[in-house]
Parts: sequence; structure tokens; C-alpha cells
Amino acid sequence: MFSNSLIVIVQIDGLGCTAGPPQALGSQSEHTRTKKDQQSLETKFQLYTDTTEEGCQILFNQLETLDKCSFNASLPLVMIVHGWSVDGILEDWIWKMAAALKSQDKQINVIIADWLTFAHQHYPIAVQNTRHIGQEIADFLEWLEESIQFSRSNVHLIGYSLGAHVSGFAGSYISGTSKIGRITGLDPAGPLFEGMSPTDRLSPDDANFVDAIHTFTKQHMGLSVGIKQPVAHFDFYPNGGTFQPGHAELLFMSFSGITQTVKCAHERSVHLFIDSLLHNDKQSTAYWCNDINTFDKGMCLSCRKNRCNTLGYNIREERLPKSRRLFLKTRARMPFKVYHYQFKIHFINEIQGKQIDPTFSISLTVLILHHYSVFVFCSVEGINGNKTYSFLITLDTDIGELIMIKFKWEGTAVWENIWDTVQTIIPWTKGTRRPGLIVKTIRVKAGETQQKISLIQGKKKIIVENILNLN
Ligand SMILES: *[C@@H]1O[C@H](CO)[C@@H](O)[C@H](O)[C@H]1NC(C)=O
Ligand SMILES: *[C@@H]1O[C@H](CO)[C@@H](O)[C@H](O)[C@H]1NC(C)=O
Repeated sequence: MFSNSLIVIVQIDGLGCTAGPPQALGSQSEHTRTKKDQQSLETKFQLYTDTTEEGCQILFNQLETLDKCSFNASLPLVMIVHGWSVDGILEDWIWKMAAALKSQDKQINVIIADWLTFAHQHYPIAVQNTRHIGQEIADFLEWLEESIQFSRSNVHLIGYSLGAHVSGFAGSYISGTSKIGRITGLDPAGPLFEGMSPTDRLSPDDANFVDAIHTFTKQHMGLSVGIKQPVAHFDFYPNGGTFQPGHAELLFMSFSGITQTVKCAHERSVHLFIDSLLHNDKQSTAYWCNDINTFDKGMCLSCRKNRCNTLGYNIREERLPKSRRLFLKTRARMPFKVYHYQFKIHFINEIQGKQIDPTFSISLTVLILHHYSVFVFCSVEGINGNKTYSFLITLDTDIGELIMIKFKWEGTAVWENIWDTVQTIIPWTKGTRRPGLIVKTIRVKAGETQQKISLIQGKKKIIVENILNLN
């Protein structure tokens, strides 16, 4: 359902949905179960095989098609559920996802649930159809259970955009008390679902375990393409979830621009998941945090008490009473993994009672084994007395063991107007110097390894090139 949110918005405005509280289209009571009087389903269930382009169609209530397609009942089933369709054809990512699921000898049955005829509609109509398709998937899974004793606990539904809510409905409509094993929502659709009750959208009740990846929740005219609110046991917000790196911000500029950009950030959820299947050695870790601002200060990199989890297929499945929002940064391209570090810098203002409120930047040179160095630039505002600043720094590579940090004040020209001098002093050398603003400690915490390193001034691990003199 990537296509373009402008069309979505226009349609919704046309329906008068912007006024008053949101109404669920086709609520639970309106939904009529059609299972009993139906012999065939509208949804096409294609078993993905490495050999055929199309997949092999499994027909509801026709056992022989399971044999013909070589469905292996002793292996788990992953079902891919696509979203809203603008052009009525299956998007490329579906085949990439199916191939990735089968890669590295993964022993899985992969079925693509093709509901294109119901998805290739005006957005609000496609939304109404999600319940019906959810029911059909539930019927299909019940049939597998009745006919070949295939347990629903071995089923993992992966739904993209509207498909995430289809999967949620499938999970809630399946009869009996036990649930589907897992549902993954990939940027679950926002319009007409945001703010709805849990029964009207994907929710943690829909499966034994539910995870979601939110990648395009940037709001425009009160709506966002991807749902913002948590809908799972673990909700991942890569780069804050609003927008994704590597995409031009051409939003709402031209028709083709809209299509491409919206598709890019919305579909990023899919590619993050595929990445987790293809790069076993580059699994992305995400961290529990209240909000992106706190995360951006590097304050949430703790993995104590299961506070962190792995994004994508290899997530640690843990049912929690409450949804947990996890944050992470990513690269703009596959493999998406970055390494997260918190740098905590403690400054000492040696001048009693002097109010210092400078704006400046610092550069850190991280010297690691093999003499590889990384430059990072940070800026802080307002140092009043002794204070600790915390930064989040992300790098493409693991920096390994820190040997030394070089700390350099930047922007000295600006200060010279404010203070007398900025001298180059090594603070722990003998001799007198005037009091100033100095770096006392730098503490580094690595999210991925959970290692902590303290570098203390005078222990020859921090080199301070300049000291800011304040008198
Ligand atoms: C089904 O999968 C199991 C486990 O990998 C394997 O041992 C068995 O041979 C497969 N059955 C068929 C018919 O391929
Ligand atoms: C800051 O720390 C230094 C050294 O520990 C101390 O001498 C000074 O009094 C402190 N300043 C304030 C404002 O607390």
C-alpha cells in the first residue's frame, strides 16, 4: 500500500473521516463469518518453491494440492501477506522475502497469500476487505489443522502495511482458544487504524507473539502511512520510526516523488526484516527506551533485564504484559546494522560561581587497535559548573577495545571574543596554569557488547589538546 499518501488523504477527506473521532470501517459486529457456506476462498495461497517463478497454488479443501505442491507438514509455515495494491501486481519484495526465508537451508514452508483483487481497490475499500481476508486465512489454517494436524502454533504470519492488520484479523478470527505462533507487522498501515481499539487492528492478542517494525510514521495532515502507536509485544522504531536514512525527502512534491519516497521509507521495514534473514552475523540490536530524544542522547543502551532485543526474524520471543518500544539506528543500506555507543563526558568548571554558557563542538578521535581512527563531532550547549553530557554515537564497525581518546575543542575563534585565551595545555603536566573548563572523564558504553570503559584525565588515556581558559 505504499503508493501515495496524498491519494489516501484525499479519499479520507472525501469520506469526511477527518471530523470527529475515528470510526472503524467494518467493525467486529458487522463482520459476518462466511466459513460454513464457502467451499473456495478468494485468497490465493501460493507455496513458494525455489524452482518455479509463480509458486504452487494450494487450494482450500483440496488435500491433493498439498501433496502436489510438496507442502512439508513437519516444517513450520511462514505466510507472507502483502498490503494495499495500486497496480494490482505482486511487488518485488515479496519474492525477495520468500527467497530470504528459504535461504541458508532454512527448513520452512513459505506461502504467499495473494489477495490482490481485494487489495487493488480504493484505500478505504481495501481496508474494509482486510477482515474478510483475515477470515479466509483463519479458515485456511483451520483446514490445515483439521486435515493434516498442522498446528497453528507453527504458523508465522508476516504482514506488510494493510497485510499486518489482515494478519491480526486472521489471528483473532481463528476459532478455539489457542493462538497462531507469531505475527510480524511490517510498518502496519496507519490511516483508519491509528487510535482504534485492539480488536480493530493488529494487536498483541492476535498471536502467541507479535512484533512490529515501524519505519514511516512521519505525519502529514494528521495522518501517517505507517501506524505510530505500539501494536505488538515488541515495537521497533528504527531511526525513530518517522523516516529512514538514504531516502530523499521529496515528500508531497511531485507524483513520482511521492510514490518513490513513500514506498522507500514504508518498504524499509520489509528490507530490514530481509536483512535479518540474510546476514546472520549482522543482527541489529534495538533498545527499550521511552522516546527517541532520550535514545538519541545514548541513555538507553542497557540490555539488563532483557531491555534489548534483536530486530527481525531472530527476535527473542518473550510475551510481555505491555508493549515495549525499542529504538535503534541503522545504516541507509543493507546490511543495516550499526554499533551504538554512549559517550559520557564529565566537564569540570574550575571557576566557582562563574556562569558559563558556551555553544561549541568537540571532536573525538577514537584510536583503536590497528591504529584505526574515527572522528565524531558532538556539540553541547551551556556548561554551568560541573556537568556530565551524554551522546549517542553510531559507527558502521565495532571499534573494539579503546586505547585512547583524543579530545579537541573546536570553534575556538568564537570564544576568543568571549574569553581571553584558549591555550594548549596538558592539564596534568607540572607547572601552574590558570583555572579553566576541563574534561575530567570520558566514559564509553557499547550497546552491542555491553562493555564499559572509563577514561580518566591524567591516566594518559585522554589527550586533551586544548583547555578552555575562563578568566
Ligand atoms: C520434511 O522435512 C523434514 C525435516 O527437514 C525432512 O526430514 C523430510 O524428508 C521432509 N519431507 C519431505 C517429503 O520432503
Ligand atoms: C567542580 O569540581 C571541582 C573539582 O572536583 C571542584 O573543585 C569545584 O568546586 C566544583 N564546582 C562546582 C560548582 O561544584
